[in-house]
Amino acid sequence: MRAIARAQPNIALIKYWGKRDSQRNLPAVGSISVTLDELYTTMAVALDGALDHDELEVNGRAAQSMLPRVSRCLDSVLGGDRLRARVTSESNFPIAAGLASSASSFAALVVAAAAAGGRETTVDELAGLAGRASGSAARSLYGGFVELRNDADGIDVATILDGEAWPMRVVAAVTSRAPKPVSSGDAMEISRRTSPFYSRWIEEQDMDLATARDAIAVRDFGKLASIAEHNCLKMHSVMWASRPPVVYWNAATLACLERVRELQAQGAAAFFTIDAGPQVKVICLPEDETRVIDALSNTDGVETVLVSGIGPGAARVNGD
Ligand code: PMV
Repeated sequence: MRAIARAQPNIALIKYWGKRDSQRNLPAVGSISVTLDELYTTMAVALDGALDHDELEVNGRAAQSMLPRVSRCLDSVLGGDRLRARVTSESNFPIAAGLASSASSFAALVVAAAAAGGRETTVDELAGLAGRASGSAARSLYGGFVELRNDADGIDVATILDGEAWPMRVVAAVTSRAPKPVSSGDAMEISRRTSPFYSRWIEEQDMDLATARDAIAVRDFGKLASIAEHNCLKMHSVMWASRPPVVYWNAATLACLERVRELQAQGAAAFFTIDAGPQVKVICLPEDETRVIDALSNTDGVETVLVSGIGPGAARVNGD
């Protein structure tokens, strides 16, 4: 009746932005990501007949505001007539600040909940359930380079290349720890309703996915760098042109982009990507990791730098 699971956040190289079905939380576009390694969320779920409501503790504190989403996710895995649960979550990186903590949290939650309830499930099924809670969480069920395809009646997620087959490092520059002003779900809806660029964004996504898939298949770093930066800036352009505008960046976000351009001019194999927050994630080959860390750590406004390789999908911890 108790299980513990661990999941890593993932960073999208070709982004998910926009929903085609907000009831079922289905994305309007496919996406490609890398699952991280050293950053993770550990989630314990204990089902307890003595409880009359769910309880949630995040990093040692009661987290009432996040409880409804967690309870809905538990219902989707175990059914509405399940036992109530005590859920404890610990992340070793800042949460709710654009570092994909909702992806690692819900990926770990579905694995721990299914195990605690003794439910036989497939990884595909768990990915679908995690995706209902947070679209990007579906990708954290898988390790390495992961593609989420939008298919007729849902999503289909799979590893397209193992992390060991093309080792890379991800250096995340944290420029603010403040919670985001607008949730990604609300911001997607604002974009869909008001951005003049939204329909073009949707139209071009299959092309960007194909380019990235090809680049990954032949390990062409330059091609992957170019399409990932383009796709990221296009997503943010959709947001900037929305009404009201959605701007997650701060001055340090832009300073980090300039640093990456300088590194590229000096021959470093590195590119940036930015999600629904002001942090800048730089993906680089292992031989360039030290200079990327040095450059970002010495950029005005960067509070800290977190580093990770590419890692595995969500899993139970020690059979617990
Ligand atoms: O999974 P959500 O609802 O937090 O949305 C994630 C959106 C982005 O992080 C901006 C892009 C992505 O594909 O992860």
